[in-house]
Amino acid sequence: MEDLDALRTELMAAVAGAGDAQALEAVRVAALGRKGRVTALMKGLGTVEADQRKTIGAALNQLKDAIGAAIEARREDLADADLDARLADERVDVTLPARPRAAGSIHPISQTIDEVIAIFAEMGFSVAEGPDIEDDWHNFTALNIPPEHPARQEHDTFYLPGTKDGARMVLRTHTSPVQIRTMMETAPPLSIIVPGRTYRCDSDATHSPMFHQVEGLVVDESTHFGHLKGCLIDFCRAFFGIDDLPVRFRPSYFPFTEPSAEVDIGCTRADGTLRIGGDDWLEILGSGMVNPKVLENCGIDAERYQGFAFGMGVERLAMLKYGIPDLRTFFDSDLRWLRHYGFAALDLPTMTAGLDP
Ligand code: DAH
Repeated sequence: MEDLDALRTELMAAVAGAGDAQALEAVRVAALGRKGRVTALMKGLGTVEADQRKTIGAALNQLKDAIGAAIEARREDLADADLDARLADERVDVTLPARPRAAGSIHPISQTIDEVIAIFAEMGFSVAEGPDIEDDWHNFTALNIPPEHPARQEHDTFYLPGTKDGARMVLRTHTSPVQIRTMMETAPPLSIIVPGRTYRCDSDATHSPMFHQVEGLVVDESTHFGHLKGCLIDFCRAFFGIDDLPVRFRPSYFPFTEPSAEVDIGCTRADGTLRIGGDDWLEILGSGMVNPKVLENCGIDAERYQGFAFGMGVERLAMLKYGIPDLRTFFDSDLRWLRHYGFAALDLPTMTAGLDP
């Protein structure tokens, strides 16, 4: 009879040395298979002396169980190692940032509005909105543009058929009616910025029947023209990214502000091109101190409160900042144009971002 201890040591070493499931199976067959060495010994028990059979039989059973258990344990180890290797191999770094290839891009109008909002938000303004379809009172009368006022003709208004609650409805010709809506609803102090669509019956290279404006309104007890100037100078310089951009206030007239001023920025006109910055002038927005009549129309005590307001055309700002020559292209829905002038969807506008260095 073979030395069972030596056999156990040899088989255990073979089990431990089996590098993969296939090698381990070969070890199992060689030890415990039909013709395996342990099996052969068990078969040979019949020839063993009767008095030793019991002890040897017990020792063989124990050996068989031990080898079987060792093989099972080894099989599990190999399977674990196999899984670990696969996991390492197929590892995905979930911490990598997603880089979607955005199919769309941000339209320059949206981008410009977001930039304007970012700048005024930094100064403490909040965003207000109002309806595109307005009644005559909010769009004109409350803004001190009474019926028959020449400013009504200048606005080339789209009137809607019929009336609503007795009021003639229009597509708003400017974002100024949101000043009225805000002052009717909210007690001062207030500072709002109003981006939105506006409509006038006019269409050529520099006019579109639908266009965009941003309106601003500040009302408080001690607001004065110096605040208006400081606010708009800061805005122009931040928007165009030029710290020393010249800004000038030129007397003007709007029915809803008194006094009124148009704001010009420095520019350079040379060889048929226009550049921002320089000692020529370019009109960029309208502004003024809110006419006391407008405050009173909204139930605000004009003895106690005063404010300033301003309005600007978004298309014009975008054309100047991004060098877009023709206003009509904004609304052509031409994908090639949008890919060229559009902005990456994940680029958030900030106080300073926008212009390429
Ligand atoms: N509503 C004017 C327009 O459409 C722009 C404007 C000018 C708005 C002066 C204002 C302002 O609030 O004070 O042409």
